[in-house]
Amino acid sequence: MKILMVCLGNICRSPLAEGILKTKITERALDWEVDSCGTSGWHSGELPDPRSIDIAHQYGIDITDQRSRKLVVDDLNEFDIIYAMDSSNFIDIKRLAKSELQQNKIKLILNEAWADQNRAVPDPYWDDNGFEKVYQMLDKACEAIIEKYA
Ligand code: 4NP
Repeated sequence: MKILMVCLGNICRSPLAEGILKTKITERALDWEVDSCGTSGWHSGELPDPRSIDIAHQYGIDITDQRSRKLVVDDLNEFDIIYAMDSSNFIDIKRLAKSELQQNKIKLILNEAWADQNRAVPDPYWDDNGFEKVYQMLDKACEAIIEKYA
């Protein structure tokens, strides 16, 4: 199983999603791969946002090995499931999909925990207090992903 987490900048939400899911995979000794990227390349090559690094650290997860990168067309071939954090990420990824197979790989991550509700992981970039809430939402979604596919 190869899973890709996608947000806008790949510095706040998707690095947390990657770190949380990788931790659960390691705990369960699953043979899965997880990566993350952004629909924009605005922060390419940068570390995750310090506030994401901090909240992950509070829960015992180190995400400082990650560097931001932009989504590329080939990601739609490479990965089995592509999780968007919000509807604008979802639409931007869908624009790159060339086949029904690729279209069907793209999902809103919170639908795994709250089925069919199309909830968004709110962008915490402009909200210093948003990171705890984002962490909790992503933790719940990643737990649901493990339960569904493991
Ligand atoms: P992310 O958050 O998509 O969760 O990484 C953002 C990061 C940077 C910007 C917007 C959202 N930005 O405007 O630079």
